[in-house]
Amino acid sequence: MYTYNQPVKILHGAGILEKLGEEAIQYGNKAFIVTGKTSAHKTGLIERVKEILLKSSIEYVIFNRAESNPLTTTAMIGAKVYKEEGCDFVLGIGGGSAMDCAKAIAFLTENEGDISDYIMGIKQGENAAPILLVTTTAGTGSEANSLAVLTNPENNDKKSLKHPSIYAKVSFVDPELMVTLPTRFIASCGFDAFTHCYEAFIANRSTPESAALALEGIEMIFENLVNVYHDPTDIQSFSKVAHANTLGGIAIDMSGVNLNHGLEHPVSGLLDASHGEGLAALFIPTFEYTKDKVREKLIKIGELITDKSATDDEKVESTCKKIKSILEEIDLNITLTDLGVKEKHINWLTENAFKTMNYAITNNPIIATHEDVKEIYKKCL
Ligand SMILES: [Fe+2]
Repeated sequence: MYTYNQPVKILHGAGILEKLGEEAIQYGNKAFIVTGKTSAHKTGLIERVKEILLKSSIEYVIFNRAESNPLTTTAMIGAKVYKEEGCDFVLGIGGGSAMDCAKAIAFLTENEGDISDYIMGIKQGENAAPILLVTTTAGTGSEANSLAVLTNPENNDKKSLKHPSIYAKVSFVDPELMVTLPTRFIASCGFDAFTHCYEAFIANRSTPESAALALEGIEMIFENLVNVYHDPTDIQSFSKVAHANTLGGIAIDMSGVNLNHGLEHPVSGLLDASHGEGLAALFIPTFEYTKDKVREKLIKIGELITDKSATDDEKVESTCKKIKSILEEIDLNITLTDLGVKEKHINWLTENAFKTMNYAITNNPIIATHEDVKEIYKKCL
């Protein structure tokens, strides 16, 4: 049994941000803007958003404390400020970190106590303040789903809050906002989007709906990610990568991530590493570990990039080669050592993966043991 529910109104396209005022006014006249400390300010985006809101007579409070790998404690501070300021809705602006922080703040305005209790399933939440999101990266897919990934600074547990109340009311996916990103970001975010599509496609909990969306997303990434890495001003290609990212976000909302994400969250939780880079460092060994069990899926992916005369073996081979070549071309052929992981961390990473990401490990077509996970981490050093 499963449910298909995609309640987010997603506005996609170059220049679509101009519609923010007319959408936002439907949720009140005081916005709580959640963003990071620098990037949205540097690009002038925050100034532009302020102007758009003021044209619709919407006041705002700016909370610019969302860090990369946002902390549970930051979200709790944000919810307190939101209530003190009497805001009507949360407006998250930025990449996955800002959007996830925004979602968590919205959730905490309606649910008392420590958000970690809701993340770990100790408490069940109810409602959240209305959420609007403006994504500035083509990675995470947070604009389209009911997930918010947070790190608890007390124990470095990095885990998703998943709750229907944190679907955005409206999300803006405007590729014009993404072209100024540093290329390293474009690569890591784009690879995150790819892994969402790939993991949802092969997941034990894959559904016909999620598989269709994920496969479409994989094709868009195959055709466009390398282009935008080399030329971020290629707005048509960026639009496709952004679209793939949204599809991946929806697909993991339905079917979940699996081994690659399951092993990555402990890495970025412990070392505050880039999520996308961690996924890249772990991808090939997790892929190789699983690939024989998902041969039919790899054939389907291979059909996207081979002609009709290709044999099934050639299709599988083409899929493997294509993914490896993308990692090379976007300069993400990296190791966990590059991200600061050392052999001494492996036991902690393994235990933490089973503690916080067991749902992802068991969503992999081959369910890894503790020993398997340790071996994979070792291979990635
Ligand atoms: Fe991810």
